[in-house]
Amino acid sequence: MRLIQISDTHVSANHRFFLANLEATSNWLRSQEASLLVHTGDVGMDSAGQEIDLYASRDWLAGLGAPIHCVPGNHDVGDRSEINPRQPVNNDRLRLWRDAIGPDRWLMDRQGWRLIGLNAMLFGTGHEDETDQYIWFEKALETDLPVAIFLHKPLFIDAPDEAPRGYWSVAPQPRQRLMASMRRARVKLVASGHLHMHRQQEVDGISYVWCPASSFVCGESQEELGGERRLGAVMHVFGVDSVESQFLRPKGLDDLKIEPVQQILYPR
Ligand SMILES: [Fe+2]
Ligand SMILES: [Fe+2]
Repeated sequence: MRLIQISDTHVSANHRFFLANLEATSNWLRSQEASLLVHTGDVGMDSAGQEIDLYASRDWLAGLGAPIHCVPGNHDVGDRSEINPRQPVNNDRLRLWRDAIGPDRWLMDRQGWRLIGLNAMLFGTGHEDETDQYIWFEKALETDLPVAIFLHKPLFIDAPDEAPRGYWSVAPQPRQRLMASMRRARVKLVASGHLHMHRQQEVDGISYVWCPASSFVCGESQEELGGERRLGAVMHVFGVDSVESQFLRPKGLDDLKIEPVQQILYPR
């Protein structure tokens, strides 16, 4: 089974800064033969702030001509209120996502693997759906199949026991809860987006893959996190009991930085 993961397309209804990268990505995806497509969030530029970006995201996804399974990012459904007080995750944002894009968490059994998509934006919010999702996740891990997990924010940057990394990763408390559940299953892959970087590392027998963005990379506004700042996608090839992940670079991508237009797209 060959699964292509893309992330952080940041589809915008109003701005064309990264449109050429988006078009390069959709053209490339249409030419690929993959059994499955997954998008790990920040589908839209500012869907958490303006619905028009959510509908532009829905239309862009529909234009791919193949089903793609998405999980939401912070720019799709908001974030924890201490990270983004102006755009907290709430019922309205979750409902808009579910109506326009689809479920914010999902589970599929395909060719001997269990694939799980999580809504990482709920972690640490205290929203009632956060608890529901933990319970659902524990049940989803009750399987003899090897498991691959997809979510927007990485569980950690350098190590599972590290201190809070603020905006960049899942907070320690929800991370510990998720990883305790994961230890009871045969989790082989945790694939995330959000950082607009590529990196692959193995920790305790699990491959942690950061899928790069399809839109822009970050320059000086992002601290050094250890990944490579380049645009692209990832192909995951699933074998009987192991998975190989490979960075792919669609033709025509340009590693544009966010900073020259950051105040226009995301004014403080
Ligand atoms: Fe992003
Ligand atoms: Fe993000």
